[in-house]
Amino acid sequence: MLWVILLLFSGILLYFSLSYRTRSKREPPLDKGSIPWLGHALEFGKDAAKFLTRMKLKHGDIFTVRVAGRYVTILLDPNSYDSVLQNTTYLDFSRYAQVLMDRIFNLRLPNHKPDTEKTIMKRYFQGESLSNLNQIMQNHLRTLLTLEMAGQNRPDWKCDGLFGLSFLSPFRAGYLTLFGGEQNRNCTDAANVYKEYQKFDGLLIKLARTTLNSGEKQTVGLAKTRLWELLAQAGLRKNSSSWIQSYRQHLQEEGADEETQRKAMLLQLWATQGNVGPCAFWLLAFLLTHTEAMRAVKREFESVTVPSTAMLDPKQHTPVFDSALEETLRLTAAPFITREVLQNTTLYMADGREYDVRRGDRVCLFPFISPQMDPDIHHEPEKFKYDRFLKADGSVKRDFFKGGRRLKYYTMPWGAGTNACVGKPFAIQSIRQFVFLVLFHLDMKLCDPEAQVPEVDASRYGFGMVQPNTELLIQYKFREQPCVL
Ligand code: HEM
Repeated sequence: MLWVILLLFSGILLYFSLSYRTRSKREPPLDKGSIPWLGHALEFGKDAAKFLTRMKLKHGDIFTVRVAGRYVTILLDPNSYDSVLQNTTYLDFSRYAQVLMDRIFNLRLPNHKPDTEKTIMKRYFQGESLSNLNQIMQNHLRTLLTLEMAGQNRPDWKCDGLFGLSFLSPFRAGYLTLFGGEQNRNCTDAANVYKEYQKFDGLLIKLARTTLNSGEKQTVGLAKTRLWELLAQAGLRKNSSSWIQSYRQHLQEEGADEETQRKAMLLQLWATQGNVGPCAFWLLAFLLTHTEAMRAVKREFESVTVPSTAMLDPKQHTPVFDSALEETLRLTAAPFITREVLQNTTLYMADGREYDVRRGDRVCLFPFISPQMDPDIHHEPEKFKYDRFLKADGSVKRDFFKGGRRLKYYTMPWGAGTNACVGKPFAIQSIRQFVFLVLFHLDMKLCDPEAQVPEVDASRYGFGMVQPNTELLIQYKFREQPCVL
């Protein structure tokens, strides 16, 4: 009997110790949820966009929630985002990034120097080096498509899933461009990497949240081991990009052993290839379901094609395509921008409010809810409007407002501040090339003319580009006479 009372007592004590936290007057509204320790973790993980929209309606544009033992302050006012992004002294990017690196990639870098890594990367992803990379990427995309065409019975329509198609080619071309690899007629190397990557990516969210069951742990473990083997030579062979060669050298200089270097290669594969394919998919899906948008993009492509090479001139501006891409990203790029609070600090809101946040908590921006899907900023935000980012005269539109203020951040698919995406220009050019090649060489239509763009897999909110929860079936055949119109 005494044992039962003791057990009960310790249970109650544990409950209170795990749940005890009260809001001080200067802190954001606190919502712990009803489940001890877990708090809102289940709802958050199931569909973060839905959960945070509900919390926004309840508490406003700043609040703190408990998620699996952690307190996370969510800020949803884009006019106030700089208060977080510019507070690099007390709000830290790299600690949480390192937690994820370890969980997802089993990667612990000795002497991890994120700033040096970024400097290396920036050197190779701008100017002349970027032009070279774009050229190599373009060649790989074209070669892969030509190889595919050679294997086809041309006049026949082929049925396929658009997501698979849009992920596969840019991934393989991106892998060959950056990581090198054997390029034979069947592209076996890149194809194997892709196959294993898909297994890994399918379980990535659960891996990040440590919610894998034992079977899934085994599957993802095998996929990672296979990928580490396949990436063993990346950065060591001559046809790897100068960037990955320099990165590999940097790892060696910092004392990373061979195994750690391979793990780091997988991290870079994910960072550079994980979002491009899904983005290309959504863009093509929106174009295929919005006739006017497709017509406008094709018309523009037609006007900037170099006739002698049947390629896009990389220097030509394509404002219509750029707007359609921006609109696609507005609807489907949903990264969390997370910072760890190193010292108690204050967040200054644009309207003058001030909120204290505690050391050890996390602060998280979720631009998908605002600015991207905010009806005060974007009229009918759930609709795809290819010309949303164009002015009436066809030039780029950058004026968007909330609460009478002109917004610095009216869409944020690439992150912002010091940790914004380093590969943005390369990513945009790769997607532009891929979409151009598809429209140029393929006749493509929906299997079901009434089909709509699929729903998103809601569990992926927070991890970059979302992915569809079903395939979009298309039919395509290679054109005898390639042309965009
Ligand atoms: C559609 C494609 C892409 C999207 C939507 C995208 C988006 C993003 C976002 C949102 C971040 C910030 C993450 C954060 O704050 O935690 C980021 C970071 C990064 N991206 Fe991209 N990205 C894309 C493609 C690429 C490509 C092609 C590369 C390289 C070739 C690349 C390289 C990086 C790197 C290195 C970082 C880390 C920056 C840092 O740690 O400071 N990304 N990306």
